[in-house]
Amino acid sequence: MTSRPPNTSIVAPTANELLNIVTRFAADLGTMTDLTTLGNCIIQELCRAGATTHGTLFLLDREHECYRRASMVGPLAPTIIPPTLAVDHPLPHHLLATNSIMTQADSAEDLQETEFGAGACAAMEAMQATRIVPHLNNKGRLIAFSLLGAAQPLAEENALTRSLLAALAQTATNALYTIVLYEDLLRSHTLMKRTDRLKSLETIAGGFAHEIRNPLTSIKTFIQLAPERKDDPLFIQEFSKVVLDDVYRIERLIQEILDYSRYMEPKLTDENLNDVVASCLYFIDVKADSHGIKIEKELASDLPRVMLDRQQIKQVLLNLLLNAMDSMAGAGGRLRVQTRKLVKPGGNVWAHIEIEDTGEGIQDTNLEHIFDPFFTTKHESGEHEGTGLGLTIVHQIIQEHHGEIRVK
Ligand SMILES: Nc1ncnc2c1ncn2[C@@H]1O[C@H](COP(=O)(O)OP(=O)(O)O)[C@@H](O)[C@H]1O
Ligand SMILES: [Mg+2]
Repeated sequence: MTSRPPNTSIVAPTANELLNIVTRFAADLGTMTDLTTLGNCIIQELCRAGATTHGTLFLLDREHECYRRASMVGPLAPTIIPPTLAVDHPLPHHLLATNSIMTQADSAEDLQETEFGAGACAAMEAMQATRIVPHLNNKGRLIAFSLLGAAQPLAEENALTRSLLAALAQTATNALYTIVLYEDLLRSHTLMKRTDRLKSLETIAGGFAHEIRNPLTSIKTFIQLAPERKDDPLFIQEFSKVVLDDVYRIERLIQEILDYSRYMEPKLTDENLNDVVASCLYFIDVKADSHGIKIEKELASDLPRVMLDRQQIKQVLLNLLLNAMDSMAGAGGRLRVQTRKLVKPGGNVWAHIEIEDTGEGIQDTNLEHIFDPFFTTKHESGEHEGTGLGLTIVHQIIQEHHGEIRVK
């Protein structure tokens, strides 16, 4: 599929040309499997069909309760169009209520009368749009809308032009909805896979058995050989070091399994997250110092109080902080902990914590595995060997708290 530049002059296509645009667009749809390509194509074709010079497609972002600017074409400065519009903004309300293409011509009188008309009309003007196309799915939900604009006012449209434009808009909506559903499905599949993995005690128990089999074998071998090699000091010395490491490893695994099962009953209390952060930093301070790691903390004074299980969130933070320190082991570096108040576009207030280190980072291929039980890249023997359970526990606890965790 080739992408065609939008009109730069206002020459309205004839009915025949419009019909061609609609047919070609419908044919092109088969080649598009992602939202970005589809969004770009929709906005280009709508501009072409509507004889407008610039256009922006807003897509519903359900997670953040807003419409997000997804595709833009034409010479309009992006600052004129905000990156997001809240779902309760008058414009989406109005489009939802009328489910018809809004034009400058009908805006003046008719719009002032409806509940959200005036607000929608003001937004249309502020965003320099001459026409706004709603995209409602078959459940009556506004999944997107397209803002189209031109420097000059639109020419009079006849009924045929209007209905062909509506047909193009409807085709675009159907295509958008299909891809949105498809992407949702992919996302929930990934989430289900992860949740399954975490909830499955079988995985944990099986993994645990596997993980302790090796150290147990070495301990058993040592005990079997010890009587006949008791007079070989080198053997006893070397092997007991290995055995001690193995004992450490089993101890750590047991401790983490216990921690893992403890998440079952979170005891929520009303807390200031800054206090929890400060108490965790206090624990790691000495260790950080001895490794040449500088701790920087920025704790927001307006952080909202949250309901949380203090012990569990401490465990989350300590796991993240210790991982950060591991990644800088030896070389020193900077560990930054920041808290801030986050107001999501829907108006919900969240407490946000960011932990950043200057360590080695995580390879792209490992990113999708770091929350898996027993996934570790710390294979050094002895006390520093990883168990790969830290982030599994972190993820579980955050899920239990209905929070979110992201990694960059
Ligand atoms: N801050 C970090 N920097 C680099 N890699 C990290 C960081 N945090 C986690 N990782 C990677 O994720 C893996 C899993 O972490 P985790 O579940 O805590 O297990 P462990 O620390 O026992 O290896 C680590 O082995 C490491 O590869
Ligand atoms: Mg860890």
